[in-house]
Amino acid sequence: MTKLKNHFEIVVIGSGPGGYTAAFRAADLGKSVALIEKDEALGGVCLNRGCIPSKALLHISEIIEEAKELKQKGVQFNSPKIDLEQIKIWKNEIVGKLNKGIAQMAKSRKVRVFSGATSFKSIKEIIVKTETGNETLSFENAIIATGSRSAMIPNLPVDNPLIMTSTEALELKSIPKSLLVIGGGYIGLEMATIYNALGSQVTVVEMLDSLLPGADKDMVRLLQFKLKKEFYGILLKSKVIEVTDKNNNTLSVKIKNKGKITERVFEKILVAVGRKPNVENLGLEKIGVKLTDRRFVKVNKRQKTNISNIYAIGDVTGEPMLAHKATHEGKIAAEVIAGLPAEFDAKTIPAVIFTNPELAWAGLTETEAQEKNIEYLKAEFPWGASGKALALGQSIGKTKLLIAPDTKKLLGVAIVGARAGDIISEAALAIEMGADAEDLALTIHPHPTLSETLTNAAEVFTGTVTDLYIPPKK
Ligand code: NAI
Repeated sequence: MTKLKNHFEIVVIGSGPGGYTAAFRAADLGKSVALIEKDEALGGVCLNRGCIPSKALLHISEIIEEAKELKQKGVQFNSPKIDLEQIKIWKNEIVGKLNKGIAQMAKSRKVRVFSGATSFKSIKEIIVKTETGNETLSFENAIIATGSRSAMIPNLPVDNPLIMTSTEALELKSIPKSLLVIGGGYIGLEMATIYNALGSQVTVVEMLDSLLPGADKDMVRLLQFKLKKEFYGILLKSKVIEVTDKNNNTLSVKIKNKGKITERVFEKILVAVGRKPNVENLGLEKIGVKLTDRRFVKVNKRQKTNISNIYAIGDVTGEPMLAHKATHEGKIAAEVIAGLPAEFDAKTIPAVIFTNPELAWAGLTETEAQEKNIEYLKAEFPWGASGKALALGQSIGKTKLLIAPDTKKLLGVAIVGARAGDIISEAALAIEMGADAEDLALTIHPHPTLSETLTNAAEVFTGTVTDLYIPPKK
């Protein structure tokens, strides 16, 4: 059979962590692959406008905050001088390096990259609108990895430069004197942490009764205790009902809290009220790909849509919208297409909010257990009893285990504290491996470390803890 120039065994639409992983895994499995991306650079939201630039900026904010805290410990620095241009150069260099890395890896694997918006013509052909005109690619299988974008709330002035999503916020055009963050979720709190450290007076407005809905309230309370001291204000059960541009580079905002409306003025607003899937203009209706009620692409455990040669991965398939979930799904889709017996059967997708302190969890949360009537036992270790946490000035923290009453297996772990996002990986492994509380208690952890708090919490459960005194039960 003669090979057509633009025929591929797999086309992948979108080059985020899910898309490029799927493309590269498929190429490594011997498939001919096209990777289509509408943006100039490869890497998707995570690399270009999300995870990576935000972590670079959070690194800066962490050091600024730590330097401030050292004052109480006898070391005093001058107030930081912020050179916004240099920060942007540094942040963009990190992103650029990774962009180039992806492009180079695509080349090495002979993955053909096409630049341009794309739309399905049929279940076997797709059109890419490139700079030089339309190109039609034919394919055997397609993987939709088009991701998500920020959702907006009604009643905001349209296209106002003072109103940002995370994309504009990460561009760091200026440091506003006052910033209103609408939404106390992942993005809202991470961006609030960054802007607060860079000098903005930050107010967070959250419509529900707790920050980070979905996370356990006891963990959020500890985080909130710290954030309350840092931020200018945290308003729960509050809603922005009207925003007016005062035409003097400020915005007047009406906020409704417990039936009372107050009016405040801010230099900028960041809207972080969730994300929605990128399913528009792809021709999905034309080829009959089914969506859920919330317009995510419906897939099964093998990442297959209702059309047998069309797969979908990552944010476009629904919550949790996390890069590491997309990466995992990308590999599954590539392997299924290559005939391997892969399917999504991970026991846990860990979640991390990179605030200061960080909040992370893996497996069952107490919130979920209570909602679903799942029985559990609980053991906690407060970081105030951890030598390492105290040495780092990070005594606000807690490691919590949820354990099955019958098998004593770990059901879930939640950690609030410095580097919780790194420590949680051990918990994820323990859950995946079916470890019980005793396994964790008997695993020798190096001392002094923050990961030791996992062992300590397990020892609380097994009754063998010696770093706390727990009076015997009568
Ligand atoms: P989110 O779902 O985490 O939080 C949105 C928050 O806004 C919720 O608390 C919600 O109650 C609140 N809200 C909604 N409408 C509101 C209104 N009108 N007024 C006030 N509050 C309102 O969504 P977010 O922060 O936009 O992030 C989107 C997704 O991006 C996350 O679900 C997460 O999966 C992903 N992400 C992950 C990160 C990480 O892994 N560290 C970092 C950033 C984003």
